[in-house]
Amino acid sequence: MKKVSEHYDSVATVYDNHYDQSQGQIYYNHICENIMPNIPKGGKLLDLGCGTGLFMRRYIALGGEAVGLDISRGMVIKGSEKCSADFMTGNAEVLPFRDESFDAVTSLLAFSYLQNPEDMLEESFRILKPGGSISICTLGKNVFTTMVPVAYRIGEKLKIKRVGMAYFGEHYYREEELTALFEKIGFSDIKVERKSFAHVDLKPTLYSFTKKLEPFVEEKMPYLAFNICASGVKQ
Ligand SMILES: C[S@@+](CC[C@H](N)C(=O)[O-])C[C@H]1O[C@@H](n2cnc3c(N)ncnc32)[C@H](O)[C@@H]1O
Repeated sequence: MKKVSEHYDSVATVYDNHYDQSQGQIYYNHICENIMPNIPKGGKLLDLGCGTGLFMRRYIALGGEAVGLDISRGMVIKGSEKCSADFMTGNAEVLPFRDESFDAVTSLLAFSYLQNPEDMLEESFRILKPGGSISICTLGKNVFTTMVPVAYRIGEKLKIKRVGMAYFGEHYYREEELTALFEKIGFSDIKVERKSFAHVDLKPTLYSFTKKLEPFVEEKMPYLAFNICASGVKQ
């Protein structure tokens, strides 16, 4: 966990650049399109592994209120500079909030880092109001992402300094795994879908090609998509 926080502390000042350029923006928009419909607008949101608040800024722009929690103090500091919401440093697996105090919980591109994902989901369930919902998006396990840890280990050895480029022992999920976790915690209306074939880190030519294929892959060959999105409701 220390390694994750140290890494994100060290890239906090350049993190947003990754998603500011056009490829990054398209990629991030696509993830948000899959998160946003599953949470109430205009409510009180807790974003776990919030980073610099990229998602919180969008939620607030739509009329909501947001609190962000992240293990990296550097990311939290950057976030507070860019967004007038509450940011806190902490572990998403232990939440310092009262029971039934939020309308929505989100987590974008952070769930794979969690050592105890069940604790995060249990805590999310506890702090959600009845009728509240959770919506997450993380890296899914597929034929391509199986290679990611290898690439990250090589990147680390070569001392390549890039957002996310280090081996953290992160876990990539399959649909049935996430469904089982959400069910175990007690969420209902569970939806798990594979999304996003054009990954932000692909080289531009490959990115354009995969972006064209993305709708087809998501519909007909979802097992090739990079991310996995899951949502559920606390009844
Ligand atoms: C790829 S960034 C995503 C940031 C943000 N959600 C976004 O969409 O831009 C992953 C974030 O997860 C955070 N993170 C990793 N493990 C965490 C944990 N156990 N608790 C809270 N945050 C964590 C990292 O510090 C980092 O800011």
